[in-house]
Amino acid sequence: MKSAMKERFIFVFLVAGIGFFITGFIFQMLGPLFFLRNIPMKSVEELVQEDVDAEFYQLAEDYPDEFQKAFGEPTAAAYAAALRLGRDIYIKEACWHCHSQYVRPIANEPVRYGAVSVASEYQNELEMPVLFGTRRVGPDLIRESMVHSNDWHVAHFYDPPSVQPGSVMPSYKWFYDENGRPNKKGLAITAYVQWLGSWHRR
Ligand code: HEC
Repeated sequence: MKSAMKERFIFVFLVAGIGFFITGFIFQMLGPLFFLRNIPMKSVEELVQEDVDAEFYQLAEDYPDEFQKAFGEPTAAAYAAALRLGRDIYIKEACWHCHSQYVRPIANEPVRYGAVSVASEYQNELEMPVLFGTRRVGPDLIRESMVHSNDWHVAHFYDPPSVQPGSVMPSYKWFYDENGRPNKKGLAITAYVQWLGSWHRR
């Protein structure tokens, strides 16, 4: 008698457990589908309509030949192309492996990096997929805009320890032509890091 009761309990718990698992699974799938599918997602064109960053014009002035060859004139369309390419390089070179793009409201992070991140900042094409990152070997980059000059970034990507002694960030020599001037990749990644958080300065 006693063991028959026990078996019954085990059976009920098993069925309930599997039932909850399946329900949870379905709701986790349907929830985002229903609640998030109508969130407005900005395209890069919509983003740059609002502002072409001053640092982008600066790149065109400082590296006229390289810039002309890579993007032509520093128009909004060129800026959109540079940001898209910069984002792709950021993913391809696994910058996200060492850098986060998310300021958390804890541990005095705002003092170190700037304003705490909010959801709306990530509702655009350049943050799909989101590049929050999981590790911080280097600093968070979502407020990177204007922290350094273009020249600093150009020197830094070429040889990080030359401007930041002891840096463990790898050098990205393939962002440069044979004369050591930034090529299309170098210009795009610099435009991209200068864009990160630029909306906070407007
Ligand atoms: C192996 C880890 C690692 C990888 C990969 C890496 N970084 Fe870094 N990065 C660091 C570290 C550590 C620092 C801090 C020291 C320094 O400034 O060099 C840093 C600093 C930076 C800074 C300066 C931040 C500041 O506010 O001073 C920028 C910008 C940056 N990285 C961008 C990138 C980009 C873009 C890529 C990919 C092309 C990249 N990093 C790849 C580790 C990494």
